[in-house]
Amino acid sequence: MKYKGIIFDLDGVICSTDHYHYLAWKALADRLGVYFDETINNRLRGVSRMASLEIVLERSDKAYGPEEKAAFAEEKNNCYRELLKNMSPADLSPEVKATLDTLRQRGLLLGIGSSSKNTKFILSQIGLGDYFDKISDGTNITRSKPDPEVFLKGAEYLGLAPKDCLVVEDAKAGIEAAAAAGMDSAAIGDAAGCGLATYDLARFSDLLACVD
Ligand code: BG6
Ligand code: MG
Repeated sequence: MKYKGIIFDLDGVICSTDHYHYLAWKALADRLGVYFDETINNRLRGVSRMASLEIVLERSDKAYGPEEKAAFAEEKNNCYRELLKNMSPADLSPEVKATLDTLRQRGLLLGIGSSSKNTKFILSQIGLGDYFDKISDGTNITRSKPDPEVFLKGAEYLGLAPKDCLVVEDAKAGIEAAAAAGMDSAAIGDAAGCGLATYDLARFSDLLACVD
């Protein structure tokens, strides 16, 4: 086995929350009279909530202070969490679940490395509340991807050296974070083809060929 553990990004890898992020940021942007679209939303992939807000406010002609920004982030998050209540185990693709089960059967430890502070809520919505061996997420980091902190903590929680971990990511910032952590990476979706990952995956189950 090339690796002892795999650390998965959550949003865009294990499940798809992009559209809910989009709707919640769009509601805030509309209320503030700020232009926002799917292309701007794509720039928020892998980026922390507060850093995402800064990107959303780039189009604003008003300057806001830290307290207003904190309130905006909370408003977006409340809206986002309401939308997440629509998620259920039906939002976990059979291909993703079968691949995870196979990786576990092969003896790999499975962890999460996500910037999201809603990680545990989302995992429980899709029926994976107790599934992963360890979770490193937005609640235990101080620096967001492309900083390697979330993956280094993930490896530490799994009890593994970085070189024994493979990261699976859909954001370029996440692939950069994996490289900075000294970990191999598999890019899927938006990140596939960025030229920085160890492997590019056309589909999630292609991961099985990367670990043999
Ligand atoms: C990442 C998403 O997983 O989590 C980003 O790709 C998001 O778009 C970030 O901004 C933070 O999420 P949350 O749930 O803590 O607001
Ligand atoms: Mg992602």
